[in-house]
Amino acid sequence: MPHTPVWFMRQAGRSLPEYRKIRDGIGMLDSCRRPDLVTEITLQPVRRHGVDAAILFSDIVVPLAAAGVDLDIVTGTGPVVAEPIRADSDVDRLRPITADDVRYVDEAVRMLVAELGPIPLIGFAGAPFTLASYLIEGGPSRTYVKTKAMMYGEPALWNALCDRLADITLAFLRTQVAAGAGAVQLFDSWAGALSEADYRRHVLPHSSKVLVGLADAGVPRIHFGVGTAVLLRAMGEAGADVVGVDWRTPLDQAAELVGRDKAVQGNLDPAVLFAPWQVVEAEARRVLAEGGSAPGHVFNLGHGVMPDTDPDVLTRLVDLIHQASTR
Ligand code: CP3
Repeated sequence: MPHTPVWFMRQAGRSLPEYRKIRDGIGMLDSCRRPDLVTEITLQPVRRHGVDAAILFSDIVVPLAAAGVDLDIVTGTGPVVAEPIRADSDVDRLRPITADDVRYVDEAVRMLVAELGPIPLIGFAGAPFTLASYLIEGGPSRTYVKTKAMMYGEPALWNALCDRLADITLAFLRTQVAAGAGAVQLFDSWAGALSEADYRRHVLPHSSKVLVGLADAGVPRIHFGVGTAVLLRAMGEAGADVVGVDWRTPLDQAAELVGRDKAVQGNLDPAVLFAPWQVVEAEARRVLAEGGSAPGHVFNLGHGVMPDTDPDVLTRLVDLIHQASTR
């Protein structure tokens, strides 16, 4: 590629009026199960912004619903689980999944790959810790206190749950790769709630099972979390090719921590997009310069696009990254 590639986490979503229009009256989970809608929504930001990759329109809880968990995605809240997991018997409610359980994803990915041509489609899934946090808390949490109570107090149950989640995640990602996804991203969005020691002991082995399990898939593996400054060294050991970094850690420092054999992805603060353009441009140029010290850099935000972001700023940012990084 003649320039630094750029895409945005949550590029397909509420910042786009065409997204709000097509989703009108259709539930989030229902829309994820309709290949025609998934294809259209995934393509919207590619058409509008000229980003270098598409990310599948889906959600990290889609494979959990396919595994038999009664859950919903509530606008303004996030995933809500009807009967949270608290005991051994609850873990048994999580069935392993096969490609047949997520046929709509297989179909959507195939349609997308045909439409996208040379532009890669990024498949994704939630990592065991982040998925476990929703299943145990029953919804979003600020403290993860129930999740941590299980992790510290009932390690056998914790490991059984995370092992099952790793298998579900692996099957979900394998389905996407088999259908033609050109890269995968494992979202451990909430891992930043942990110390390095606890991450290494209770979480890393399960995320590694997923990432190492995809070693033979032949596609780049991206591993991302928020608030991971103290975890980057450990995340670099989990088995990914690219580590996604939030805005708190400069990419040159992150590159040292994750190891010199890995690329970095990130990390413009999504809130910077609400500042005047001169600020956006200066910050984007700083991110490019810092990313230049890693063996590879994929430009992105440090977390997802916020819903009320002006989409025109995103388009302008893509142009800037393409121009400023042309070698
Ligand atoms: O990046 C993309 O454009 C692809 C689509 C995507 C969605 N969710 C669509 C979505 C991706 C990659 C995700 C991943 C996801 N889902 C994560 C990891 C990424 C991250 O942000 O850290 C997490 C933690 C979730 C769980 C989840 N689902 C949350 C926190 C929310 C937001 C709740 C809200 O309304 O504020 C969702 C819902 C969701 N997932 C929406 C979209 C477009 C909004 C649903 C709507 O439009 O009503």
